[in-house]
Amino acid sequence: MTTQLITKLPAILDPTKIPQHVAAIMDGNGRWAKQQGLPRIAGHQQGANTVRSILRCCKDWGIANFTVYAFSTENWGRPEAEVNFLMRLFEGLLDSELDRMHAEGVRIRFLGDRSQVPIGLRNMMDKSIKKTVNNRAVTFNIAINYGSRNEILQACRSISKRVKNGELETEQIDESLFAKYLDTHGLPDPDLLIRTSGEQRLSNFLLWQLAYTEIYITNTHWPDFSNDEFTQAIADYQQRNRRFGKV
Ligand code: IPE
Ligand code: IPE
Ligand code: MG
Repeated sequence: MTTQLITKLPAILDPTKIPQHVAAIMDGNGRWAKQQGLPRIAGHQQGANTVRSILRCCKDWGIANFTVYAFSTENWGRPEAEVNFLMRLFEGLLDSELDRMHAEGVRIRFLGDRSQVPIGLRNMMDKSIKKTVNNRAVTFNIAINYGSRNEILQACRSISKRVKNGELETEQIDESLFAKYLDTHGLPDPDLLIRTSGEQRLSNFLLWQLAYTEIYITNTHWPDFSNDEFTQAIADYQQRNRRFGKV
């Protein structure tokens, strides 16, 4: 661990127990906006600032992977104006933040089915992946049009095709092979899942990958989720006794 990491790490955190992968269900943008007397989209805009600062914490504290749930396969059911706003917001943010993220060593990846994403955003996603592919400071995974059940079905389809073509034996399908067909291939499973805004559910997020993940749920709405509370969440995680089914 470099001196820089140690000096930036909040004093209450144990540098020997830093999670390798933190995932977040960024919920409560709409409720935050309502509280402020603002339209829901103002909450999404404010939520983007939280993403920026938590990503920076991950980089500074040595958390190698940060994954955010930005848009679920179920979120298409929201009013068209909100969906369109979100797609434009994602595209605009990637455009405006890409150079800075690249300069900071962020590698950008996406989870989810790209085929239904508007072309402008999809092009920006491709550009972000290409530009940052060799960066190693932190991997930032953004789930857009992501649904875990859909991801698992796609994996089943791809594996079945290979079996049908004689490229794979049924007996060869084990957990590690299966994981290679998920959008998260190559990433460690999340150590910690944070869900803001108090709901106690997974909402179709990383159902396979979260099998042994520690969960931190807070009533704070995502736009209000501060670096201090992130520190608190990591401190809480560091107190957990992870048994993985053993004694
Ligand atoms: C999370 O905030 C952001 C997305 C799902 C895109 P919400 O928009 O779900 O906010 P609430 O849950 O309505 O407060
Ligand atoms: C989960 O939030 C999805 C994202 C954060 C993108 P939702 O607001 O869509 O989840 P539910 O509807 O409360 O389960
Ligand atoms: Mg919500």
